[in-house]
Amino acid sequence: RNILVLHGPNLNLLGTREPEVYGSLTLADIDARLGGIADEAGARLSTFQSNHEGALVDRIQAARGDGTDFIVINPAAYTHTSIAMRDALAAVEIPFIEVHLSNIHRREPFRHHSYFSDLAVGVIVGLGADGYVAALRCALARGAA
Ligand code: DQA
Repeated sequence: RNILVLHGPNLNLLGTREPEVYGSLTLADIDARLGGIADEAGARLSTFQSNHEGALVDRIQAARGDGTDFIVINPAAYTHTSIAMRDALAAVEIPFIEVHLSNIHRREPFRHHSYFSDLAVGVIVGLGADGYVAALRCALARGAA
């Protein structure tokens, strides 16, 4: 079975980007950790990062045809702005967990609202890279393996 991990804008800078907020791991570190867990479980993991909203919409749409069973997504700043990505997730009807490295609720008020949370199976915030791991384990436990 197939799990897709989506990373939104600026997450390609992880490791050097505000490490006090987002941690010192790079995106490659996080993806490698997730890949190892998926391998152990016999699941297939695809990862995709983009700084472009349309590219993320295209990847979500493509997930409908490529056998993706479950999506783990950190929409990053698009969390707070992207009706287009929300609509894409609703259209493909693939269950997803929303992850944020930081606790968006203890940050600026404009980060408190998400266009995704009410559609998500669940939301994990503030646990750093461990949040992605928890989301992946949950996806695997729900049969996406
Ligand atoms: C983020 C939180 C967002 O508010 C921010 O724009 C990000 C990352 C997080 O993982 O904590 O880019 O999604």
